[in-house]
Amino acid sequence: MSEMMTTNPDNIRIREMTIDDFPAVFHIGEDVFTAESFRTLYRTWDEYEVTTFFNSDSELCLVAEAAGTVLGFALGTTVTKHNSPWKYGYLVWLGIRTDIQQGGVGSGLFKEIKNRMKEQGVRMMIIDTSADNLPAVRFFEKHGFGDVQEHVYMSLNLTRKSRKKTVKKP
Ligand SMILES: CC(C)(COP(=O)(O)OP(=O)(O)OC[C@H]1O[C@@H](n2cnc3c(N)ncnc32)[C@H](O)[C@@H]1OP(=O)(O)O)[C@@H](O)C(=O)NCCC(=O)NCCS
Repeated sequence: MSEMMTTNPDNIRIREMTIDDFPAVFHIGEDVFTAESFRTLYRTWDEYEVTTFFNSDSELCLVAEAAGTVLGFALGTTVTKHNSPWKYGYLVWLGIRTDIQQGGVGSGLFKEIKNRMKEQGVRMMIIDTSADNLPAVRFFEKHGFGDVQEHVYMSLNLTRKSRKKTVKKP
């Protein structure tokens, strides 16, 4: 899908994802969830993300389409924590075709998944993204998210040889 596309919000339909949408959703994700921009996330975009979310909670797997073309998608799930009466709604992947970003499609998908989560009894929505992904940070702030929690990601390269400290004998 290389041709440029313009979208009229009136023609956009938000609906549940079906198996026929898998290739389009996967390829949009490949374009927008690049290794560079999502390098610190512990999740990696691959075809199993699409099928796993679809299998676990298909009501929270949505696509936006216009004229039979998938423009973007939202994949989420709900989480209940041990010792917490609250149900959390975790929006894990929200991706919009690069050529139609900032056209309102992400907002449409977000509002629909938020409503669905609310209907499922969710009291708190959660998202995570890299701190330097400013479009996403601004997008979620605009939709009311706050209370940014900082996480520390650490890594250990196991392919490097460890150097043993030798204690010099006097
Ligand atoms: C983040 C994303 C989902 C937003 O979807 P969208 O359809 O472009 O967003 P909308 O048009 O509905 O909303 C626009 C708002 O989003 C924010 N935004 C979106 N793109 C932006 C950009 N390039 N720079 C700054 N703000 C941006 C702004 O708050 C903007 O509001 P404004 O126009 O009043 O400033 C989309 O840009 C995307 O797919 N990004 C790549 C994947 C990603 O980062 N996903 C989120 C984490 S999973």
